[in-house]
Amino acid sequence: MSDLLSVEHLSKSFGGLKAVADVSLTVTSGEICSVIGPNGAGKTTLFNMISGVLRPTGGRILFDGTDLATVSPSRFAAIGIGRTFQNLALFKHGTVVENILTGRHTHLRSNVLDAVIFFGRTRREEIEARERVEHIVEFLEIEHIRDAVVGTLSYGQQKRVELARALACEPKLLLLDEMVSGMNQEETEDIARFVLDIRDQLSITVLMIEHEMRIVMDISDRVHVLNFGRKIAEGTPAEVRRDPAVTEAYLGGHRSEPLAKVGA
Ligand SMILES: Nc1ncnc2c1ncn2[C@@H]1O[C@H](COP(=O)(O)OP(=O)(O)O)[C@@H](O)[C@H]1O
Ligand SMILES: [Mg+2]
Repeated sequence: MSDLLSVEHLSKSFGGLKAVADVSLTVTSGEICSVIGPNGAGKTTLFNMISGVLRPTGGRILFDGTDLATVSPSRFAAIGIGRTFQNLALFKHGTVVENILTGRHTHLRSNVLDAVIFFGRTRREEIEARERVEHIVEFLEIEHIRDAVVGTLSYGQQKRVELARALACEPKLLLLDEMVSGMNQEETEDIARFVLDIRDQLSITVLMIEHEMRIVMDISDRVHVLNFGRKIAEGTPAEVRRDPAVTEAYLGGHRSEPLAKVGA
């Protein structure tokens, strides 16, 4: 078991605000890890740096041994980092399959010139993309809505399409930002089962930001806790739940109390 992701003393400032401050954490190949913390703790900002949306102000991120500072943001998906967004980022007027294919395009190596010279390779890539999409559609059990226009689907279904889109680039690491927020219990349980299958059957390592403590406690191997941009705890779900600093972070400042839901 080796570290797939190593975040080292990472920081991000917005003006005078330190959204992420000196955060270090690792994710081992084959793990399901969670990042938890109160609203505004810096979780999404951390993900934005790991997925190339934002450049860090300080520190570094190693992915599979590569310093991400040397990688162009447009290449992050191609090197194996897939993600979903806290607020849906889908083409509402496109069909489910079309949306999933957009996630695949970052994976296609051919540029326009290649397309002219190596027509055969492009065709092969197109066929591979279609096959991959069909596999994902089956895997996530969305055959019945494959040709539906995304904007007509329920919120829970749209979230599942976004998960499919993130899987289309065949990531080694999948970042999920509050996947189950706004979902009902049945949809939440489905997602928990899919995340386990993604790790076990697709061999994809998962790092998820999650507010829903049931899912965090049920399926995470390890949990990292942020508060005010800093990492305040790390451990197994049971360790983190017992940690007084974690309870304090959730109870202090009249914030929401997700830990209370699981009887911490
Ligand atoms: N692009 C931005 N510009 C300025 N401030 C930001 C930006 N993104 C996030 N922030 C601020 O950084 C802090 C952390 O935000 P965020 O990472 O979204 O937290 P979380 O996902 O844990 O709720 C918050 O105070 C937020 O207002
Ligand atoms: Mg967030």
